[in-house]
Amino acid sequence: MMSLLLIGFSLLFIAVHTLRTSLASPLNKIPGPWYAKFTSLVLKWHEFRANRTRYIHRLHLEYGQAVRIAPDEVAFASATAVKEIYCSGGSGYDKTNFYDLFKVYGKRTMFTTLNKDDHAKRKRVIADRYANTNIVRPQSLNGIAERATNFVMRCYESVGGSLDLYVYLHAYAFDCVTHHLFHPYGTNSLLDAHDEAVMREVTFDDSLQNRLVAYYWPTIHKVFGQILSLFAKPRETPLADSFVLDTSAKTGAAPFTLLDRLHGSSSQLDQLDIAAECLDHMVAGIDTTGDALCFLMWELSQPASMHYQRKLQQELRANPTASFDKLPFLDAVVMEGLRCFPAIPMSLPRHVPSGGRTIDTFYLPEGTEVSCQAYSVHRVDRSVFPDPDAFKPDRWLEPKGDAERKRLFFAFATGGRGCVGKHLALAEMKMLLQSVYSRFTTLPDATMKPIDLEMSDQLISSRPQAQKCRLRFVPLEPANGK
Ligand code: HEM
Ligand SMILES: *[C@@H]1O[C@H](CO)[C@@H](O)[C@H](O)[C@H]1NC(C)=O
Repeated sequence: MMSLLLIGFSLLFIAVHTLRTSLASPLNKIPGPWYAKFTSLVLKWHEFRANRTRYIHRLHLEYGQAVRIAPDEVAFASATAVKEIYCSGGSGYDKTNFYDLFKVYGKRTMFTTLNKDDHAKRKRVIADRYANTNIVRPQSLNGIAERATNFVMRCYESVGGSLDLYVYLHAYAFDCVTHHLFHPYGTNSLLDAHDEAVMREVTFDDSLQNRLVAYYWPTIHKVFGQILSLFAKPRETPLADSFVLDTSAKTGAAPFTLLDRLHGSSSQLDQLDIAAECLDHMVAGIDTTGDALCFLMWELSQPASMHYQRKLQQELRANPTASFDKLPFLDAVVMEGLRCFPAIPMSLPRHVPSGGRTIDTFYLPEGTEVSCQAYSVHRVDRSVFPDPDAFKPDRWLEPKGDAERKRLFFAFATGGRGCVGKHLALAEMKMLLQSVYSRFTTLPDATMKPIDLEMSDQLISSRPQAQKCRLRFVPLEPANGK
């Protein structure tokens, strides 16, 4: 009896305490669903169901460009918020410990460093290898071109049947990244058995729920980990781990590669740091580029977008010798693809710095978790992106509104911590599309269902639900034209 009373009082105390702190929070002025004042459980529920991005987007549509999504977490979708959170002071606010989820070999890499100084130190070593001047060096570009040619051969081989693009686009991205990181030790096979196994470990990873449990409820995870692993396996990538450990220990990589720089005297990194940085860039560069191309080629193959595919083919065939970065419609197609299907559509969480900040008229105390998600930044302002859910590359060709569109383009994030691989990714995407659409028409295979390409959230990236994308390739001219 006594103990029941005691439990009753404790519960009451906790409830009153939660209510009081909730009612006193300065975040109460920010619109949002009522329960977000008290609990993050609804948000987590959507996160566990791989549907966080859509959920937050729905809240933006209902409540506006600033939404409180949890007791100490606010989502924004305006250009001013993007600038404040990700660009103020150069690299924006510090990352939250959410990024611990991405440590590799137990090490912090450039991507997982939390504060400005640690990040700047690592970035000084790495950045020039990803600068556009380095990407457009012949040795670098020729490597990508060769891999695009391999891809096109697979397309020819599939004529009459269909090709699972999902696998081959990730293989292409895998080969391009290993070339950039390790040449001449990178691969160029478009899937020999070993490469395929490594790529599959990185790409077909089913550990989302397990990793979220480990992050949010570490004690529960430790105690019940054994049982949980019955239905959700932990992330394990033994082949990728040893592939990168072996390859990154080699010396003599070409001067344009990341490995060459990491081994250089200016880097002062130990062998495990070097391997961790390389593995991180592999993980960052395979699924993003592969998924973005997959969503985009699927879209271009739909009846509603067939006139865009025709227009792209015309541009490419009228300019057969033009460089990939000198084709305006190809650029518009890639921009619109990344706007509609940003491979990282999800919140990029940051902490409000000491002293608190005001964003879009709302005061946020220090430590509040704030973020923007590309999916919503690309959609909520209809004056900049009218008909936001429609795939319309032409919008990027209109001079009017150009600055506003670029300001809201967030697929690679922005500021000092934006994607370092952006120029490489764009070169890979454009060269592949150029190779494919100057030779083929692509059509969806009859076995595919629209739901197969629905967005399925991972930790910060999204991938097509079914992880497959079968297209049919119809040559534009006899195959001897290759
Ligand atoms: C279409 C393809 C790609 C997209 C959409 C993309 C997107 C992004 C985004 C949104 C971020 C910021 C993440 C955050 O703040 O949490 C990022 C960071 C990063 N990306 Fe990419 N990325 C792509 C391709 C690549 C490639 C090809 C590489 C390298 C091979 C790469 C390497 C990185 C690295 C190292 C960072 C961390 C940068 C830092 O913290 O300074 N990405 N990327
Ligand atoms: C994901 O969330 C959106 C918006 O809340 C909803 O319309 C959709 O049905 C959800 N999808 C799944 C698979 O739960």
